[in-house]
Amino acid sequence: MPTLVIGGTGFIGPRLIKRLLAAGETVTCMDVNLGTGPFTSLSDKVRVIRGDVTHFEDVMRAVLEVKPDRLINLAYGIGAGEGNPHQVFRLDVLGMDNCFEAARLGGVTRVVYASSLAVSGQQSHFGERLVTEDDPLHGTSQYAVHKIFNEFQARKYVKNYGMSIIGVRPANVTGPDKMRGSTDHVQLITGAARGEAVHLPKKGQMRLLIHVDDIAGVFARVLLADAPRHDIYNSGGVAVSLGELADLVREFLPDAKITFEQEGGREESGNYLVDNSRLRKEFGIEYPPLRARVREIINDVRRQEGLPLC
Ligand SMILES: NC(=O)c1ccc[n+]([C@@H]2O[C@H](COP(=O)([O-])OP(=O)(O)OC[C@H]3O[C@@H](n4cnc5c(N)ncnc54)[C@H](O)[C@@H]3O)[C@@H](O)[C@H]2O)c1
Repeated sequence: MPTLVIGGTGFIGPRLIKRLLAAGETVTCMDVNLGTGPFTSLSDKVRVIRGDVTHFEDVMRAVLEVKPDRLINLAYGIGAGEGNPHQVFRLDVLGMDNCFEAARLGGVTRVVYASSLAVSGQQSHFGERLVTEDDPLHGTSQYAVHKIFNEFQARKYVKNYGMSIIGVRPANVTGPDKMRGSTDHVQLITGAARGEAVHLPKKGQMRLLIHVDDIAGVFARVLLADAPRHDIYNSGGVAVSLGELADLVREFLPDAKITFEQEGGREESGNYLVDNSRLRKEFGIEYPPLRARVREIINDVRRQEGLPLC
């Protein structure tokens, strides 16, 4: 099936595209950035169109050319900060709407978009309990509010036009080459893997980690499924404090130099207790243990640096 991946040359995109190719899909990627890093190995297997998701004509042209059966939008102002509201609004809100509208006009069978666990806001709103897809949304950052609006707009398109538009709310995605969004957990693992000293603000700060290959697997399953039962799915992940993550890293690198400014942070953490039973029950998805994924990231970095593996 022809599949259009918008924003596919970044962190999650190349891992998703690999899975789509392995499933026999014909993949076209549209991005403003023609791709470096993990995307490089895919450039001869995937058609890449330079296009800007904030320009409706670029998205519509890509849809008319590719005639995709499936479309996923990953382009977003992740980690773009709260400092440029106009530009980030265009990318996050207008860009997403352009994808929904072009998909409607082009008769695309399935649209998938990335929401985020950020929509739920702070864990303190819920106490120490798992948050489901049906819980109230308390996110207040520009990023969270844009994701909340994307979810609203997706529901509107589904209601008004009967489209199949499914959102996934990824947790804190981790992997060796993550550059944007939450990166403290990445710095902690990759810095230690390189033998660098890592100093972070709060030992008790909680994260809900999911490896980039695992979230790519979730997106692929939802994108290719015949008839997902829900419009929105939590990815879930493994809840861990940065202090606990440091201890995990030290199991492989006992001399790792990881220090923290202070102990606390748990009470100020974003949502880290998430119920993903919807996804697990419907798609049978289980993630490898975090310990194995941490080791993998350490070794990805050490391989690249020519250091002995552990
Ligand atoms: N990485 C995470 O931890 C995480 C967590 C929750 C949700 N998400 C969501 O998942 C999605 C993908 O995340 P990612 O980590 O791969 O992000 P990324 O920033 O690595 O990739 C985004 C891609 O979009 C492209 N892009 C940016 N502006 C564009 C434009 N105007 N037109 C076309 N392409 C454009 C970029 O070049 C990049 O290739 C985003 O929606 C993000 O909010 C990510």
